Amino acid sequence: MAAIRITDKIFLVGAIDWDRRLFDELIPLPVGTSYNSYLIRGVEKNVLIDTVDPSKADEFFENLEELGIKNIDYIVCQHAEQDHSGSIPHVLKRYPMAKVVTNNKCKELLIDHLGLTEEDFLIIKDEEEFEVGDIRLKFIFAPWVHWPETMLTYYADEKTLFTCDMFGSHLATPYLYSDEDDRFKLSAKRYYAEIMLPFRSNIRKHLEKVSSYSIDYILPSHGPVHRKPEIILDYYKDWSSDITKPLVIIPYVSMHDSTEGMVKFLLSELVKKGVEAIPLNLSDVDFGEFAMYLVDASVVIIGAPTVLSGPHPTVAYAVMLMNALRTPSKGIGFIGSYGWGGKTEEILKGLLSGLRYRDLGSVFIRGSLKEEEKKRLSALSDTVVSFLKEYK
Ligand code: FEO
Repeated sequence: MAAIRITDKIFLVGAIDWDRRLFDELIPLPVGTSYNSYLIRGVEKNVLIDTVDPSKADEFFENLEELGIKNIDYIVCQHAEQDHSGSIPHVLKRYPMAKVVTNNKCKELLIDHLGLTEEDFLIIKDEEEFEVGDIRLKFIFAPWVHWPETMLTYYADEKTLFTCDMFGSHLATPYLYSDEDDRFKLSAKRYYAEIMLPFRSNIRKHLEKVSSYSIDYILPSHGPVHRKPEIILDYYKDWSSDITKPLVIIPYVSMHDSTEGMVKFLLSELVKKGVEAIPLNLSDVDFGEFAMYLVDASVVIIGAPTVLSGPHPTVAYAVMLMNALRTPSKGIGFIGSYGWGGKTEEILKGLLSGLRYRDLGSVFIRGSLKEEEKKRLSALSDTVVSFLKEYK
């Protein structure tokens, strides 16, 4: 990627990672990602907002060279995670007079993770204004976007808010602006679900804080940038609210069609009763997609066959994610087939111990689905219908 002008003062100098398919060895990246670093070119001084993943440092320095940048005076570090901070040591080596501008918490993390020293830093406070030559910035602390040290940076003269992970997306795209790429909404939602869903109460506070700023551009550190900020702000207001949709999802795995038979029957009962319900075969659905459905689903019915006396490990993993992501779903039920016994239901409920939810009931059967067991599934569908009405 070449350096790209956003305004007369701001340039995108990051890198697109078209080929990366996994983040944190956990999060699927079906369409790659980008590491957006921004250069603010002042009359006398230059300021970098974040850097790039170290794997892309060469490309990043080529972009700075393309702009003829001879000196970097300050590196604003908004977030210590290495996909944005990892190239700071390389920048300091190349521009030894540069200082890292950040908060105390971020400084501690950068010292621990990257081996920086106290002398490398200029420490700022929440809402502090920072003037360097003709560049005036204001820092807005936004802890727990998903790490504790995160901050945003407002550049009033350009009506621009730099937001690091917040409002970002794992989307490698040839387009600069989010409104130019039809895939953007899904990528941004997937990203929000995978990373920020457990911190949605903090996200709501951050949205409140930024609502008082006049903003023409939101510049995140992943994916395309926003020249129509109201679009992504509205999405975030919707996603971070605890109001879910009247949607039922049935994530499941089936080994010999028995659990799948239960899922299909339950699904047809729900649909007959006017409920929007979606089966998610976890053997086919990646976990980012699953997380995205959790943002909306009021009800989750977990379908788990029993393996070695407990839930199938793929289902257990999905349930652990629900717990870790603090799913906003309000009702949860459990179904599945077993061979001769086991503790699947008990183990699944144990894995959800961090959540508050209404237990909508369980239907576990031995072997394949029989006529008398269909009544139990039908009763479960009635419970779901009543719950959705009550919740509405
Ligand atoms: Fe993109 Fe939390 O780093």
